Amino acid sequence: MTTPLPISFFPFLLLIPAICFSICHANSNLLCIQSEREALLKFKNHLIDPSNRLSSWVEGGDCCKWIGFVCHNSTGYVNQLHLAAPPLSQPDFDAPLAEWEAYVRSKLQGKINPSLLELKHLSSLDLSSNNFSSIHIPKIFGLLESLTYLNLSYAQFQGAIPHNPGNLLKLQYLDLGGNDLKSKSLQWVSGLSSMQYLDLSYADLHKANDWVQLHLPGCDLEDVPSSISVNSSKSLVVLDLSGNFLSSVPKWIFSLHGLVSIYLSENSLEGPIPDYSGNISFLEVLDLSGWNHLNSSIPNSLYSLNRLQFLSLSGNYSVTHLYLSENQLNGQIPLSIGELSSLKLFYVSKNQLNGQIPLSIRQLSSLELFDVSENQLHGTFPLSIGELSSLEYLGFGYNLLGGVVLETHFSNLMRLITLAASHNRLRFEPNSSWIPSFQCEWIELGDWYLGPKFPQWLKFQKKLSYLDISNAGISDVMPTWFLNLPTPFEYLNLSFNQLTGGISYLNVRDTVDLSSNRLTGPFPRVLSTLRFLFLSNNSFSGSLSQLLCDSSSGKQMEVLYIDKNLISGDIPDCWSHCQDLNILNLGSNNLTGKIPPSLGYINLSMLNLRNNTMFGEFPSTLQNSTNLIMFDLSENHFSGSVPAWIGDKLSNLVILSLQSNNFDGYIPHNICDLQFLQNLDLAHNNISGVIPKCFNNLSAMATTNKTDKKVYGDSFYRFSWSALLVLKGREDEYGSTLGLLTSMDLSANSLTGEIPKEIGSLVGLLSLNFSGNLLTGNIPDSIGNIELMESLDLSMNRLNGEIPPSFSNLNFLNHFNVSYNNLTGQIPTSTQLQSFDNLSYVGNHHYGPPLTKNCASKGIPTDVANNGSSSEGNKVNSLYVSIALGFVMGFWGVVAPLFFIRSWRIAYYRMLDHICGKLYVCLGYYGYVV
Ligand SMILES: *[C@@H]1O[C@H](CO)[C@@H](O)[C@H](O)[C@H]1NC(C)=O
Ligand SMILES: *[C@@H]1O[C@H](CO)[C@@H](O)[C@H](O)[C@H]1NC(C)=O
Ligand SMILES: *[C@@H]1O[C@H](CO)[C@@H](O)[C@H](O)[C@H]1NC(C)=O
Ligand SMILES: *[C@@H]1O[C@H](CO)[C@@H](O)[C@H](O)[C@H]1NC(C)=O
Ligand SMILES: *[C@@H]1O[C@H](CO)[C@@H](O)[C@H](O)[C@H]1NC(C)=O
Ligand SMILES: *[C@@H]1O[C@H](CO)[C@@H](O)[C@H](O)[C@H]1NC(C)=O
Repeated sequence: MTTPLPISFFPFLLLIPAICFSICHANSNLLCIQSEREALLKFKNHLIDPSNRLSSWVEGGDCCKWIGFVCHNSTGYVNQLHLAAPPLSQPDFDAPLAEWEAYVRSKLQGKINPSLLELKHLSSLDLSSNNFSSIHIPKIFGLLESLTYLNLSYAQFQGAIPHNPGNLLKLQYLDLGGNDLKSKSLQWVSGLSSMQYLDLSYADLHKANDWVQLHLPGCDLEDVPSSISVNSSKSLVVLDLSGNFLSSVPKWIFSLHGLVSIYLSENSLEGPIPDYSGNISFLEVLDLSGWNHLNSSIPNSLYSLNRLQFLSLSGNYSVTHLYLSENQLNGQIPLSIGELSSLKLFYVSKNQLNGQIPLSIRQLSSLELFDVSENQLHGTFPLSIGELSSLEYLGFGYNLLGGVVLETHFSNLMRLITLAASHNRLRFEPNSSWIPSFQCEWIELGDWYLGPKFPQWLKFQKKLSYLDISNAGISDVMPTWFLNLPTPFEYLNLSFNQLTGGISYLNVRDTVDLSSNRLTGPFPRVLSTLRFLFLSNNSFSGSLSQLLCDSSSGKQMEVLYIDKNLISGDIPDCWSHCQDLNILNLGSNNLTGKIPPSLGYINLSMLNLRNNTMFGEFPSTLQNSTNLIMFDLSENHFSGSVPAWIGDKLSNLVILSLQSNNFDGYIPHNICDLQFLQNLDLAHNNISGVIPKCFNNLSAMATTNKTDKKVYGDSFYRFSWSALLVLKGREDEYGSTLGLLTSMDLSANSLTGEIPKEIGSLVGLLSLNFSGNLLTGNIPDSIGNIELMESLDLSMNRLNGEIPPSFSNLNFLNHFNVSYNNLTGQIPTSTQLQSFDNLSYVGNHHYGPPLTKNCASKGIPTDVANNGSSSEGNKVNSLYVSIALGFVMGFWGVVAPLFFIRSWRIAYYRMLDHICGKLYVCLGYYGYVV
């Protein structure tokens, strides 16, 4: 999509409605009217049809038999014209690229010829999901007087909405949603006297002050008149104001008597959910979910709507759909929920609900979706849930439920498809012969206790494509039957168990996480579609060639973590066919040899070879890795000098760690060109020369704005969305609260000269370590400007003079060391500096208070000797993750609701319902959308 739209609309571009009609066949004896046929051929001639969809439209043919037509069955007049682009086969954002391309090609383009006016009996016209990006909506649609149905949605029309459709007195259904339209007035809508459904979603209506209360989602409306006149007495059935900027639930909507569905999702609603006090007696669907901030408890009147319905004489309506997720709702789910006997979808995830899941939900015999995940519910998992035999989606993950789950909890859940219940304190140990009554496609039981045996019942889940049983106390040999299940998984997470044994083959299409187990043997074979592979912290051995150099495997791999295993030998030189690889972590193995040239041919963002026994010079082939953001060669035997081209070619670096190698030579000045660099670690090498004065050009260190995502450089945007989401799932490993660490460590080298005063410009630094060098001269006063500094180590140099008085500004210091220099004078008066013990100052020539006795005789203090390297390992790993996370968080709120597959499935449920149960298709190849 080329049109720039506000980013919050992107998820909706993914969901493009294609309303599916059964195309009836016309009476076979019937020929279409000649004049209509000619008009249609003219119409076709002005269209561009790249995929030749309209090939059946030929001279002399019977247009009643042409693709897309329905003629009246006795008169032969063309009655219906359905030319929506045919939808993708599966509602899947990972639709195969080829299918996506075919889909894009099937979109009609070009112009709409007025010859269409010849079709005097046309009652239904659907041009949705095509590509009319070059034109406005033509006025001729407003002249097709017989129309009852007009669908121009998601067809990339531009510009102003013509007003003359307002003359179409028979029109009942008008969908102009999902285009790039604007309108200054909506007065014309009031002419549509038969209208039952009007959708102008995502049109720019901010100049239209005269709008009427109808279907107007995503229209930049900021405020709704508080007392709108509702005397138009239209029998309004659906009110859709989703995706606007409303700040409160408009009260007047509760006086609209015929109202059946209310959609107010994705606004900025605040305050409590109004207490309806029973004004709405017909309500079926209430959607206040997503990007709202409602913060009351759920009013009881909502739960009693069903009872009200009995009091009213007029209908069989009652609440079927309650979407209240992603607000700040609190309080409990009351017993009276059991009275909503028609309730089908109850979706209140991501709130602050507490209390227990009430037993009365057993009365909700129509319930299909029950999602209370990400709240603070406690108590046990009620047995009565097992009685909900219509339930397809059961979500209660990320709550505080505890206790034991029994087989009987699931006994009647015959239709269950999704069980999303990770992160509770539940224990489930069914009999080894238990055969579940359901066939789930999606099971999330992470952090349950399911062990110690591998859950045998999974054997009977023949449709399973998503499985998370991470951290589930399973301590068993990886069963062969599991690896040989007939259907491939899309996603498989068995991490943080104690699985042993080897794996020869992984039947997983997208993501596998087996990290932190005790798996051994050679690497498994993988499917060529696999994108994310996490094998960290196991005992896989053997060579990488098995995994990567096979002609097909690894072809689509984007993220590969094999750190902390027992891989030995050289890294194979076969990376050129892993063109999609973005993140490669081979740290803490037993790799040796040089960096193979082909690693430079792929577009890596992160390369971690830390803690191996590799050698050789800084490889010049990496000059082509211009997207590198994180580069870690530390704890190896690399040698030679740090190349000058680094500043020019690796200009996106955020992290550069060459620590604990044999690098020598000078620090090249070009390193100062790394404007995104936040972590420079050259410690424990043989680097000599002076500290470059130009370090003040390291602008990412010279700002206190740490999490501004711009600092990550353009290449971060190339990072796959899903890679980031998968990484987000790994935050637990590192702790989620890490801030972004900005640091410079040049310790344990042979640097000489003075500390340049320019260092004081790096006000973003949290940690600075120059210890163990040969630095001379005074400590520059400017270092006191780095007010956020938490750790400063200048020990074991030849610095003289006094500690500058400006150091009393360093209020956040929790590690400070100037020992073993030739410093004189007093310690500046600052509570922070005075609080460090003598070890921070020991070994200087002459020193004033607070030093009361000479501690030099005790030898080198331990933290100097270790140079903090014990904590070093964690530091950088955490940093990698927190940078990725900082980025994830920036986009998480925007993209995730539809992007992350589970949420997407719910969105799918919602949208299905939203457009009256018609078919929805997700156009999910994200690369095209962005
Ligand atoms: C023609 O259409 C009408 C309604 O549109 C339907 O009732 C009738 O059965 C149809 N006749 C034939 C022959 O299909
Ligand atoms: C380095 O790797 C070895 C295994 O090769 C491992 O035992 C050690 O813990 C690793 N060190 C760090 C700091 O990660
Ligand atoms: C690492 O590799 C060397 C030979 O390259 C071997 O002698 C040593 O045992 C290996 N270490 C481990 C922990 O596998
Ligand atoms: C960088 O890539 C280009 C073409 O892709 C190649 O010609 C060149 O040799 C590469 N440079 C290095 C240093 O590998
Ligand atoms: C820090 O970021 C904020 C907002 O992102 C911006 O307003 C401010 O100017 C930035 N400060 C500096 C020093 O760049
Ligand atoms: C230590 O400092 C004193 C003056 O404060 C100076 O005379 C002496 O030469 C210095 N020693 C060294 C080893 O730099």
